[in-house]
Amino acid sequence: MKIYLATNNAKKLKELTRILAEVGLAGVQVLGGADVSAYPEPAETEWTFEGNALIKARAGAAATGLITLADDSGLCVAALGDMPGVRSSRWAGADHDDTANLELVLRQISDVEPPLRSAKFVSVLALVTPDGFETTTRGEMPGQLTYAPRGANGFGYDPIFESDDQPPLPPGAPRRTNGELSAAEKDAISHRGKAIRAMIPTLAELLSQPVISGQVLGGAL
Ligand code: IMP
Repeated sequence: MKIYLATNNAKKLKELTRILAEVGLAGVQVLGGADVSAYPEPAETEWTFEGNALIKARAGAAATGLITLADDSGLCVAALGDMPGVRSSRWAGADHDDTANLELVLRQISDVEPPLRSAKFVSVLALVTPDGFETTTRGEMPGQLTYAPRGANGFGYDPIFESDDQPPLPPGAPRRTNGELSAAEKDAISHRGKAIRAMIPTLAELLSQPVISGQVLGGAL
């Protein structure tokens, strides 16, 4: 059984594949952009995560003929009216990288004091089948922005984001940014982890797999 994850972001694909395996879909072969014939990448023209995730999943399902999942995600900063939002990957310009994006956000809120430095990561996962069934799920991770980047894990804005939902630590230990969390610690609390776990019952039903307590039974699908 194959499903297609429509993303060309290698780090996002790795996270999505890892979380899908953890929630019990290890037997499903997950294809990424490099595993399917090239097709024109659709423009992300919508102003909602749902709209853009559906654009990407529809294009993937039409091109591959496979059940397709696509994620649209971003960082919503309260002091910036919830921007960069759907423009997160291109905030400093189309030709700029993750570091330029996060440095621009830090400059834009340089005079904003806690607790007003609040932000949230949002991930919307769209599922589209070749015969036209469509649905979306949403996960959010609220937190606070730091004054400087810390940690080399994750990607994007992870080094400047401290989740409100911190993984357990010894008493008195400092709060950690997403960039200082292990992959498993981030997956357990992340917006993407929540969106995927919410999609599992639908995916399991489409793949005709029984689900018990969020786990799909019968490893080899
Ligand atoms: P998309 O590929 O159009 O959905 O853009 C997603 C962008 O949002 C990424 O390029 C990052 O800048 C940001 N982003 C989304 N999820 C995360 C995350 O888990 N950590 C850090 N940055 C993220």
